[in-house]
Amino acid sequence: MRKVQLTETVLRDANQSLMATRLPYADYADILPVMDQAGYYSIECWGGATFDSCLRYLHEDPWERLRKLRKNLPHNKLQMLLRGQNLLGYKHYHDDVVEKFIELSIKNGIDVIRIFDALNDFRNLETALNATMKYATPNTIASGCISYTQSPVHTVNKYIQMCKELKRMGFQTICLKDMAGTMTPYEAEHLIKGIKDALGDMPLILHTHSTTGMAYMTLTKAIESGIDVIDTAASCFSGGTSQPATETMFYALQQYGIETGLNEELINQVNDYFKPIKQKYVDNGMINPKSLSTDAQALVYKVPGGMLSNMIANLTDMKAMDKFEQALAEIPAVRKDLGYPPLVTPLSQMVGNQAVTNVLLGERYKQISKEVKNYIKGEYGIAPAPVAPELLEKVLGENGEPVDCRIEDQNRTGIEFQEAAEALGDLARSEEDIMSYICYPDQTLQFLKDRKAQEENEATYTIEAM
Ligand code: CO
Repeated sequence: MRKVQLTETVLRDANQSLMATRLPYADYADILPVMDQAGYYSIECWGGATFDSCLRYLHEDPWERLRKLRKNLPHNKLQMLLRGQNLLGYKHYHDDVVEKFIELSIKNGIDVIRIFDALNDFRNLETALNATMKYATPNTIASGCISYTQSPVHTVNKYIQMCKELKRMGFQTICLKDMAGTMTPYEAEHLIKGIKDALGDMPLILHTHSTTGMAYMTLTKAIESGIDVIDTAASCFSGGTSQPATETMFYALQQYGIETGLNEELINQVNDYFKPIKQKYVDNGMINPKSLSTDAQALVYKVPGGMLSNMIANLTDMKAMDKFEQALAEIPAVRKDLGYPPLVTPLSQMVGNQAVTNVLLGERYKQISKEVKNYIKGEYGIAPAPVAPELLEKVLGENGEPVDCRIEDQNRTGIEFQEAAEALGDLARSEEDIMSYICYPDQTLQFLKDRKAQEENEATYTIEAM
């Protein structure tokens, strides 16, 4: 019997997409024993924005959260999302920092590490992959992830080549990550059939979002075309900018006669548990009803929803909304000049802002942002297609060359592990504390100071009580 398994995203992506990752551990602690038995392929619960949100808003130690998840989910694979050499942020870290981060993630309980690069420059996945293999337990899975986008250079053939490359590198599974939810059923069919034909038994995963309303149709076609794993969220946390619903896909797959390994009663229990939690965040405004509905704009304008709202906000600020249509029309031109980068953070904002600048100044590239300049210099990695020659010359000068190897190999700026340890002094109690500081210095410093103050308070209280 054929099998399609489901990754449950309520603890990470669904929570990140619908409520800016503000779900505290305490809200879901009680349902973990049920989730543990539900039969998911994996539970996505860490990485992405959870780390930053823990430190910045929830006063939780992200590593402590991971250890608690591990303890209460002993039978399920714990999954995280990692931005290759950027770890959880947008800047490049040193190889030794990346390696240490992976070592600690596995040590504290992560099984599946899904690793991607915004530009699909796979050199940026290498260090993370090698570290994952180095510290792997029998449960560890290194999953190579492709940022899916549509453009004239992103053909089925190109994606098949990317998959072959990920397989050659040593990844154990491959994930197609459609962050904007713009993959159509037709594209899913051609892509997945093509990849399955070329790669044989390499497990293939589809991650998409319901944003544009395509997702259920796309997943249907993906299932018919041979997908092995799909990402879904407990139904009350599904839809809109989140994933399609776990239970819905379970019932649909059942009718196909496809085994999911899910326990029907338990996945429904999980959803029942989250219903009042979701209601609480709808009532207090943390979940914006807009994020729960379908928005087909991304299909109309060929740009992700977040990029569009960012652009509208910028133009409104500058009292230039009358230039909206013009700026929108400028986006494809800028994207083409930059070699068709996938429109994912931070590239989507960079392309959008440059399009707005071009239109407002009435001249293309009269002003180029520092970020776009760095991109053209090659600091983000290799663009999917060549950058326009005039733009290259404008930024690099006549004989300038873009950086053609990884930044790591070029210079060693930025904070090192030892430096971070010294900066923290006795505030740091563990390597995990130091790693948090490297990733998010300001938030971690505040968090560690608060922790220390709280401990001193408690100590005083205990003495007095005695
Ligand atoms: Co996602």
